[in-house]
Amino acid sequence: MFEAPKLVDDLNVSLARYAVFGHPVAHSKSPLIHRAFAHQLGIALRYDAIDAAPGTLAAALSRFVGEGGVGASVTLPLKAEAFALAKACSARAKRLGVANTLAWHGDHWFADNTDGEGLIRDIGERHRIDLRGRRVLLVGAGGAAQGVLPALLDAGVSKVTISNRDPQRADQLCDWIGDPARVQTWYLDDLRRAGDFDAVFNATSAGQYGQALDLPFTIANPRTLAYDLSYGKAATSFLAWARAAGCAYALDGLGMLVEQAAAAFELWHGDRPDTEPVYRQLQRDAAA
Ligand code: ATR
Repeated sequence: MFEAPKLVDDLNVSLARYAVFGHPVAHSKSPLIHRAFAHQLGIALRYDAIDAAPGTLAAALSRFVGEGGVGASVTLPLKAEAFALAKACSARAKRLGVANTLAWHGDHWFADNTDGEGLIRDIGERHRIDLRGRRVLLVGAGGAAQGVLPALLDAGVSKVTISNRDPQRADQLCDWIGDPARVQTWYLDDLRRAGDFDAVFNATSAGQYGQALDLPFTIANPRTLAYDLSYGKAATSFLAWARAAGCAYALDGLGMLVEQAAAAFELWHGDRPDTEPVYRQLQRDAAA
């Protein structure tokens, strides 16, 4: 006679485990996204959200491997820690020195960074916007700005102007990328004199703290793409500015989130999910 497993845990024992590590992490949409991808492709897995305070990621990952963990997404503030503990990495993760994806290779972690790819795919494939030749303003000079700067340059933008509240950090980011012909800095307080841009990226965390950026309308033109790397409430103020400024597009980072997850999923499973239904579902959830 067929005996059903007594506990859900009995079913989970043999499942390959994946998780997102962050601090905090309860808000993360990664479990939802990865479970949806797995369902779509008929892959059985378990995907959790695991909180790890800074300095504890290596220990948390060892425990995770002991429990069957083979893949990890890594979010703030653990991306540098994730990169440092990996014994091997992709070229793009090496360039950035931070990782958002880890894959267990039997005896070590392999690190990758799919954030830049996620951004470029969202803009180019979902929204069908060509970045080539665009003059870009990148507002912010923290980890988020650094994470997308190489990908923007690789996508063929003509120029990137970095503008940050703390101008020294903008200069540091500019020096780090080392492309003086294409990357320059500008004082955030003085953007009124900077002319207009074909794309404006908000890579600051201002919106996460309920603060608004004071950006002049003069930086936008009627074909400007305005893109906030955050999504949801954190992006509201910047997107409202973009619409009022008459930008052609005002996009939040929800699509980037789904695309960076899809790239991680492909690294782990070798299969690329269809991101569109998952993106649409998250948009509907956000609007509800
Ligand atoms: P992340 O990894 O999310 O980029 P971060 O490294 O702390 O986080 O960087 C946050 C960015 O948002 C910084 O560029 C920060 O400006 P400073 O370098 O001057 O701190 C920017 N930022 C945060 N709040 C801001 C605000 N109210 N106005 C303008 N910039 C802000």
